[in-house]
Amino acid sequence: MSEYHMKKMQHKLKKNLDENRYEHTMGVRYTCAALAMRYQYDLEKAQVAGLLHDCAKCIPDKQKIRLCRKNHIEITQAELDSPYLLHAKAGAYIAREDYGVEDEEILSAIACHTTGKAEMTLLDKIVYIADYIEPHRNTAPCLNEIRMLAFEDIDKAMYTILKNTLDYLAEKGKAIDPMTQVSFEYFSKLMKEKEG
Ligand SMILES: [Fe+2]
Ligand SMILES: [Fe+2]
Repeated sequence: MSEYHMKKMQHKLKKNLDENRYEHTMGVRYTCAALAMRYQYDLEKAQVAGLLHDCAKCIPDKQKIRLCRKNHIEITQAELDSPYLLHAKAGAYIAREDYGVEDEEILSAIACHTTGKAEMTLLDKIVYIADYIEPHRNTAPCLNEIRMLAFEDIDKAMYTILKNTLDYLAEKGKAIDPMTQVSFEYFSKLMKEKEG
């Protein structure tokens, strides 16, 4: 008997997400399962995290800010400037309150899926990468290589995605969330240590 009622979650998500976001969500769930098989992680937990990672995505910005303030969830300057980033932290809150998830690993993976962080757990990495490579994605550069890399070396895949994201933001002159920079530096250091 499984701990989570994924069918029920899926049903609720269908009501709370727009059509594209729902399709993306199904792709992330599927990709989380595939990565969990590869890296020997709990399949059910990986799928629940994938299912719920964007559960707050379709809440209007003002409402997300209100939800965080009301529940004493810290909002950084970068999040105030780009409130869409808040769907990660708000999502972790909603996963707990509305979807009954108490598992801290799942909640953490939801909370850090937009920026990553230092010392990410295996599930954090699975969700972050699945979000980037799921089958509906088609615009990111080097997607084919990253899709392969994700199943070869999970840390190198993290490093490459973060690097591409920072390059993209710099090229477009867009604001860089300091947390993305922190994550990049963490994986950068890890890569150097590995390569010795
Ligand atoms: Fe997201
Ligand atoms: Fe997503």
